[in-house]
Amino acid sequence: MDGIEKRDRLIRSWIEEAAQKIQQHASADPVVEEKTGRKDLVTNMDREIEQFFVEKIKKEYPAERIYGEEGFGDEVNDLSGIVWFVDPIDGTLNYVLQKENFAIMLGVYEDGEGRMGYIYDMNTQSLYSAIKGKGIFKDNEPFAVPTDQKLSDGLLASSSLLMTDDRFEQHRDVAKKTLGVRMIGSAGLEILEVLKGNVVGYMAASLEPWDIAPGKVMMDEAGICCTQFNGEDVNLLRKNRVLFAYPTAYREMMDSFSEN
Ligand code: IPD
Ligand code: CA
Ligand code: CA
Repeated sequence: MDGIEKRDRLIRSWIEEAAQKIQQHASADPVVEEKTGRKDLVTNMDREIEQFFVEKIKKEYPAERIYGEEGFGDEVNDLSGIVWFVDPIDGTLNYVLQKENFAIMLGVYEDGEGRMGYIYDMNTQSLYSAIKGKGIFKDNEPFAVPTDQKLSDGLLASSSLLMTDDRFEQHRDVAKKTLGVRMIGSAGLEILEVLKGNVVGYMAASLEPWDIAPGKVMMDEAGICCTQFNGEDVNLLRKNRVLFAYPTAYREMMDSFSEN
C-alpha cells in the first residue's frame, strides 16, 4: 500500500474532526431511529459522521472501496484491493442512553490483510492506532501491550447476549474461570481493554466486520489472538462470533470449549 505516512496523517486529522463534530452536538439530544429493532439504533450523528468519512476518503482515494455500517460507502462483497471499514459511532446505544462509552473506528485492509487500525475513545479523547509492522500507538506515542495473560489471573470482557442467552452456557463456563466479567457495550472500547491489559480477553457473540476490522490490526500487531469461537479466521464480509485474547488465555478458552 502506498503512502502509509500520508494516510496515517489524514486519518488522524479526519478522526479528530469527526470527534469535534460529535462533541459540538453533545448537549443536543440525537435524532434516534430503530433499524432492525428497539435495541438496534441509528442516530443523525452516526449518519453524519459516516458521510463525512466517505466524502474525505472518496476525495483522496477515489478508486478504493468503503464498507461502512450505515451504508454510505460501497456494496462490498469481496475484499480485493483496498477496503476501508468505517464504524462512525461504535456503541450507539451508549451514545443515546449514556452520552459516554462510545468510540469512532476505522480500518484499512489490502486484499483482506489488515494494514491500519484506529479506535478513538470518546470518553478520554485518546486515539489508539496500529500500522502493520510499525507497532501500536496511543495518540502519537508508542504504546506497550502486555506480552501474555492467563484466564485465571484476570478479568474477561463479554457481550450481554453471551451472558443472557442459554445457547452460550459453555462461554459462561469460561467466564467462571476468570476473576470476573466486564461489559461496556462498545466492541471498540472492549478491544482497547484487551490492548491495555485491563482484561485478558473479550468474547462477543455477534460482531459485524466494521466492529472487528480496526481492532484486529491492533491484535495482530500486538500478538493477541483474534479468531471466531471455532478457531477459524474471522470473516470480514459477515457477522462473527469472536474471541480476542492473550495467547495463554486464548488456549485456555479453546481447551475449555473442547472439554464440554
Ligand atoms: C455494537 C457495539 C456492541 C456490540 C454490538 C455492536 P454499534 O456496535 O459494539 O458492544 O455488542 O454487537 O453492534 O451498533 O453500536 O456500532
Ligand atoms: Ca459497532
Ligand atoms: Ca456503529
